[in-house]
Amino acid sequence: MKVPAARPFFPEQEIKNILSDIEVSLRDGSLTLGPSIKKFEQMFAGYIGVKHAIAVNSGTASLEIALRYFDVKDKEVVVPTNSFVASANAVHFAGGRPVLADIREDTLCLDPEDLKEKITDKTKGVMVVHLAGLIPPQMKEIIEICEDNKLFLMEDAAQAHGASVDGRKAGSLSGAGSFSFFPTKPMTTGEGGMITTDDSNLDAFARSLRHHGIEGRDNYPRFGYNWRMSSINAIIGIHQLDHLDSFVKERNEVAKKYTEKLSGLDGVTTIPVPSNIVHSYYKYPVILPFDTFELQKTLKEKYEIETSFLYYPPIHLQPLYQNYFGYKPGMLPVAEDVLKRMICLPMFVGITDEQISYVVEALTGEMPV
Ligand SMILES: Cc1ncc(COP(=O)(O)O)c(C=O)c1O
Repeated sequence: MKVPAARPFFPEQEIKNILSDIEVSLRDGSLTLGPSIKKFEQMFAGYIGVKHAIAVNSGTASLEIALRYFDVKDKEVVVPTNSFVASANAVHFAGGRPVLADIREDTLCLDPEDLKEKITDKTKGVMVVHLAGLIPPQMKEIIEICEDNKLFLMEDAAQAHGASVDGRKAGSLSGAGSFSFFPTKPMTTGEGGMITTDDSNLDAFARSLRHHGIEGRDNYPRFGYNWRMSSINAIIGIHQLDHLDSFVKERNEVAKKYTEKLSGLDGVTTIPVPSNIVHSYYKYPVILPFDTFELQKTLKEKYEIETSFLYYPPIHLQPLYQNYFGYKPGMLPVAEDVLKRMICLPMFVGITDEQISYVVEALTGEMPV
């Protein structure tokens, strides 16, 4: 039985609806910056509970726009080492220096204690990453540290569509939220990204920067890029967003089944989720007492089960970050220890009970005793 690590989900009827909306767009020639973009942005802002949402063509672009707005040039931004490399790269592209911080073993997210250690007089802000779709239960503490030190806070919510804490959605908890709509994410537009904010100045800045730095009609007072989202991607996003709550619900049901099957097994640790937090379960991470590299290889080759790290090597151990920024093994010990012992089990809408049982049986059967 083949089990992919992730896959997007489009209900049959939605495929028809998407195609019919795309047909309208093709006929009227509205392919970018048109009504579909506006509709998607309004729907997304409403869903997240913020005043503004600005659609762009990737999650990396949305991170860079927010970081440019916060003016990180020649300043430091603290980023957890456990993230996709784009989180830290975006700081570099915006002219700042990514300062990587350690994680907590029980959340895999930024450790507020290490964050405090990493703050210097050059620190401008903090990027929190809702890893795997978990808003760190220590979010309040992180917000307070930023307020006390007059630092901006932004969320890389690329994996956390629909996640919430105390009823407040990921992407609405800081100065700027950043989403990715890559096909593996809880919802997709094919490729794409979104900035969410209550700040009308960031809204205006982002709209300018994504369109070559335009202001008004023919003025280009700042350097910008082509970071626009196409209408075709926005149409896919509109239809995916309609189903996001049910997608998140189903991902939580899958997670519950994994947790029930794995709980109590010797050496198997899952990530606890406090009752005030809704996890979006982009991934379902499990921590084992040994390096999972060989296990992941066996699951793929012998059982056709795709699994993944999230993330190993962490950013500071990437050769680029060691060579360019001088990071070395041993600098962020929790991440270095725990992340190579993790395995993310297949997680997607539409995974069957048989597939879940097959994954758990293969995993437990291949674990060294
Ligand atoms: C945490 C995180 N940040 C940033 C990105 C970058 O998003 P994109 O691939 O849409 O540029 C991703 C996903 O790929 C991600 O998972």
